[in-house]
Amino acid sequence: MTHSRPRISKAVIPAAGLGTRFLPATKATPKEMLPVVDKPAIQYVVEEAVSAGLSDVLMITGRNKRPLEDHFDRNYELEEALTRKGDASRLARVRESSDLATMHYVRQGDPKGLGHAVLCAEPHVSDQPFAVLLGDDLIDPRDPLLSRMIEIQERHGGSVVALMKVEPEQIHLYGSAAIVPTGDDDVVQVTDLVEKPEASQAPSTYAIIGRYVLDPSVFEVLKKTGPGRGGEIQLTDALRELAQHTEIGGPVHGVVFTGRRYDTGDRGDYLRAIVRLACEREDLGPDFRTWLRSYVNEELPE
Ligand code: G1P
Repeated sequence: MTHSRPRISKAVIPAAGLGTRFLPATKATPKEMLPVVDKPAIQYVVEEAVSAGLSDVLMITGRNKRPLEDHFDRNYELEEALTRKGDASRLARVRESSDLATMHYVRQGDPKGLGHAVLCAEPHVSDQPFAVLLGDDLIDPRDPLLSRMIEIQERHGGSVVALMKVEPEQIHLYGSAAIVPTGDDDVVQVTDLVEKPEASQAPSTYAIIGRYVLDPSVFEVLKKTGPGRGGEIQLTDALRELAQHTEIGGPVHGVVFTGRRYDTGDRGDYLRAIVRLACEREDLGPDFRTWLRSYVNEELPE
């Protein structure tokens, strides 16, 4: 184990996407601000980074993303109004997001893909390994994934991606990894990666889910990575280069995740995430579950 390296402390969250799948809701509101029960999706992601010990968060934003910055900033008018009313619990809710982490923002300008978004983090991240969290994937806080990835990165060096087994007909939605086992059940070495392959071309049904711990050498590789799938600069293509040439920036490992993950980038999955999380909430859950049961039993159309 190498303990001489400084602990990973920076998280990068790409949030420049247009969110067209949620139009018209996302016409004037960033998709990251859509509520999952009563918190914007992006706050869950920042909370996840903070629970893994990463309290320096860089968001890669774009035009029309100002509400993200406002959400993680103080709102003095609201705070004062709630203080005047003596509403301590709502005041705490308002302050939660501004007290969470040290937030930084950089604009992507031209949205040229996820790889390009990550490259925008270079001046902030510099030469330390760092984490990348994609906002469309919510990982249940009861199933800590990022801490395990950081542990594996600290043990092996290089980069680490999060993998999840998916059905063959789903693999075209993800980056797919060729893998070999290691001594740890939940850890594999990644030998190849293909971005969103047809099922017949996929090296496996291990899909990259939106968590990465990256060696800073990824920046140099990204600078040389041309447009890939969809004409965009793909992070998967840069990681493929790293996986195939471990002399550049160390090996690429995968942590195989078997916990609870909610995809909020798709409308159906977004609705399922809300129902599930609402059912499990201590405050809202009891009433909501009673209603849901009677709705399912008595009113649900076929
Ligand atoms: C991105 C990555 C893909 C990964 C996915 C996980 O794709 O390019 O490799 O599997 O995130 O959610 P996107 O879903 O942003 O198109």
